[in-house]
Amino acid sequence: MTTTAVINIASLVTNDPSLGNGTPLGLIRDAAVVIEGDRVVWTGESSKAPATDNAVDAGGRAVIPGFVDSHSHLLFAGDRTEEFNARMSGVPYTAGGIRTTVAATRAASDDELAANVSRYLAEAVRQGTTTFETKSGYGLTVEDEARALRIAADHTEEVTYLGAHVVPPDYADDPAGYVALVTGPMLDACAPYARWIDVFCEKGAFDGDQARAILTAGRAKGLHPRIHANQLGHGPGVQLAVELDAASADHCTHLTDADVDALGQGDTVATLLPGAEFSTRATWPDARRILDAGATVALSTDCNPGSSFTSSMPFCIALAVRDMGMTPDEALWSATAGGAAALRRTDIGGITPGTRADLVLLDAPSHVHLAYRPGVPLVSAVWQRGQRVL
Ligand code: NIG
Ligand code: FE
Repeated sequence: MTTTAVINIASLVTNDPSLGNGTPLGLIRDAAVVIEGDRVVWTGESSKAPATDNAVDAGGRAVIPGFVDSHSHLLFAGDRTEEFNARMSGVPYTAGGIRTTVAATRAASDDELAANVSRYLAEAVRQGTTTFETKSGYGLTVEDEARALRIAADHTEEVTYLGAHVVPPDYADDPAGYVALVTGPMLDACAPYARWIDVFCEKGAFDGDQARAILTAGRAKGLHPRIHANQLGHGPGVQLAVELDAASADHCTHLTDADVDALGQGDTVATLLPGAEFSTRATWPDARRILDAGATVALSTDCNPGSSFTSSMPFCIALAVRDMGMTPDEALWSATAGGAAALRRTDIGGITPGTRADLVLLDAPSHVHLAYRPGVPLVSAVWQRGQRVL
């Protein structure tokens, strides 16, 4: 198998806490990384790097793990420019706009949906994302949810069934009937394509009892739970996520002290999605408070046409540092290792021997520039599974 060394790295982020240099990022200065096939096989000081078939000179710049975007909604058609415009003139965000995207998605062909996923994925890779999770939730019929997940599974192994996004108009008078569909025939049709099951637990979507029933039914079919929780207001989502040992509670914008304590004590990752607060002009989630309680935090894009139409992890890092109380080190960790934790993965999100060779070369001397130089396209090269893809 061919070996490639990336040498002359000014600052390498490994996310290996055992390196013990005072930051969970496990920084190595003047470093090199050796890749064999799809794996990292060696990291250390450049001067000690073993001989390899090829060498790539990083030119004294920074290398970080590829971003792990653990929360996106890429299976949709159309966009909601007018809704965004109205919001920027003061109209508040409600999840009601989801139904606009449901109508457009149902009307789209399989090829259109697949082309959309490919397009947003290519966009994400150009910004350094090497793993992404994505969800259904804009079909809301058995056939439309199953086809969304089938198409998603062609692009990623991190596929989430979100039949419980909102109650669709066709069931407006029978929400219990819709929950029965989501936990019955729709689950049967969707489970073969998905790893995860998600519920939008919020006023106007699904309440705590409905969410529990849906996630429990999914678990019986082998799907692991995650929850859209406490995005628009207080509610039972976060504590339910911890109680069910969900991999993550996503949004976490409106938290009581009891919610924060629960996150601090459980294994559920708090996934923060600052693109949503940016695009809905909402209150920022308080990352500092959640971190200080001892919880694990992930940062993700929530890329979707309604609340957060960005595929950019660097943008989310900049927002988290500027407005959510995170340091640049914490934000980078959350966008890489934190995302991996939210997907319960240990093979991604870091650069150590044995991890998947997902590397990003930045046009900057250190990862701090991701927040320090917001909006600047700093991603210079990307390796995904050991292959150079940018
Ligand atoms: O995570 N909150 C629920 N779902 C999405 C928004 C969906 C939409 O507005 O289309 C979210 O923000
Ligand atoms: Fe979401």
